[in-house]
Amino acid sequence: MLGPPGAGKGTQANLLSKKAGVPHISTGDIFRDAMKNGTPMGRRAAEFIQRGELVPDEVVIGIVEERLKEEDCRGGFILDGFPRTVAQAESLDKFLESKGISLDAVVEVVVSRDEVVRRLSNRRTCEHCQAVYHLIHNPPKEDGICDRCKGKLMQRQDDTIEVILNRLKVYERQTAPLAGYYEKKGRLLKIGGEKKIEEVVAEIAGKLGIHSPSPLPTGERDG
Ligand code: AP5
Repeated sequence: MLGPPGAGKGTQANLLSKKAGVPHISTGDIFRDAMKNGTPMGRRAAEFIQRGELVPDEVVIGIVEERLKEEDCRGGFILDGFPRTVAQAESLDKFLESKGISLDAVVEVVVSRDEVVRRLSNRRTCEHCQAVYHLIHNPPKEDGICDRCKGKLMQRQDDTIEVILNRLKVYERQTAPLAGYYEKKGRLLKIGGEKKIEEVVAEIAGKLGIHSPSPLPTGERDG
């Protein structure tokens, strides 16, 4: 899943992962878990995430490759927020080639800058299971409480206006060029992301040929 901060990559990846019965791998979620647990990698990532900068490629690439070697990825996977630089994309290509697999599609979710700012300032995330809500478009049933696990909802540290604007700049500079990279490979699928959540997921699922829900993979979670 490719797209600017707040495009809905996590929301869509979570729904598609349930439909397709494959794991949703979000590098942002992996870093937030590590930050919450105070691991050395989490402390290193926090220095970059809090400023809206990208975590260095050498850290991210190793983490994703290790995750993709896990058993649950054998039948496929959805990558959300990775790759984010050309160097990450090239490493991913090499890794997948060494395993004899290739990406089916790179879904670019397109939304305007104004919509990104509106979405991120109204986003709330469960501090326990990282389920994502929007105060207007996708509110929890009970104010401030996660529907799924009853955890407390909070605003992400990188969802302040100053950090959002920097994340957008970083996206334009370092990640947007990936659309051209994958277009040349014939893998890019552009989707308008300003429709309702259910309409966006239906369009992506239709274009990828994901029609019937499969049993949930073990260990799945919202993102
Ligand atoms: P990450 O967590 O990946 O953040 P991001 O890419 O900035 O994306 P977001 O999670 O903010 O947004 P999203 O597109 O998933 O939107 P969402 O579904 O939540 O990464 C965080 C940080 O980690 C990065 O800044 C970087 O520092 C680091 N990092 C991560 N990966 C890295 C990598 N590969 N390399 C280096 N560093 C890395 O939706 C947003 C809101 O909108 C929600 O409230 C949602 O409910 C709502 N919404 C969604 N869809 C709709 C809709 N159709 N209509 C109305 N509302 C909607």
